[in-house]
Amino acid sequence: MNANLDQIKEVINKSNNIVFFGGAGLGTESNIPDFRSKDGLYNMEYDYPPEQILSYSFFINNPKEFYRFYKNKCLKPMINASPNYAHLALCELEKRGKLKAIVTQNIDSLHQKAGSKKVLELHGTSFNNTCTKCGKKFTIEDVLNDKNDIPLCTCGGIIRPDIVMYEEGLNNQVVNESINYISNAKTLIICGTSLVVYPAASFVNFYKGNELILINKDEVPHEENINYVYHGKAGEVFKEIVEI
Ligand code: APR
Repeated sequence: MNANLDQIKEVINKSNNIVFFGGAGLGTESNIPDFRSKDGLYNMEYDYPPEQILSYSFFINNPKEFYRFYKNKCLKPMINASPNYAHLALCELEKRGKLKAIVTQNIDSLHQKAGSKKVLELHGTSFNNTCTKCGKKFTIEDVLNDKNDIPLCTCGGIIRPDIVMYEEGLNNQVVNESINYISNAKTLIICGTSLVVYPAASFVNFYKGNELILINKDEVPHEENINYVYHGKAGEVFKEIVEI
């Protein structure tokens, strides 16, 4: 049901077992475009559909095209992005012992930059990169500053980001831990996600409580099952409900 911010603020103030489930909408107020908003990445014109570019088979078969898109549209907005109020508010709730974990679909490490400790990255992170041949590790700066069209390891292998590309499975340990936190949560906050990408979107169904909160700019599927629905921008909403 639709809720007002006072109701959501009261639920959060009373809860000491909050889990947060988030998506790319959290990054837009940090100038990282999301995917499916009208101004999101997937609504811009490219030679190939972005979901195809960000797939494993495209990475293997067209690494130059993959990196052209990934560096310009993903890494460059990310590298200098700062956490916004929503990220900082979640870190504050964790410091107060109220928020137990953040489960995110994002790969931008903004929660860690904000100081959050328990961050479960369902789709991996762009800040860790690995040589596909020898396994050597590289930073996001190594990848961005590599002068080659395709970042290469000293062994000659192609470097890949430690993100979950389309066609790849999620990390079992991260999935199991995320489901465990969600299924034991008193309060689950869903924020900044269209809830249309699986299996990630299915994990919110493990929540068993009656303090399910949605804070999202646009509507999401099955809002009728959500206890507290508020359509708004995360950074602005968190400014109203969490004092840092
Ligand atoms: N505050 C709140 N919600 C916002 C904001 C904001 N400032 N900006 C955008 N949103 C909402 C949009 O209304 C949209 O519903 O965030 C949602 C973003 O949805 P998507 O762009 O689909 O992002 P996400 O749900 O994270 O996508 C899931 O898709 O391509 C894959 O791997 C990628 O992890 C990503 C997954």
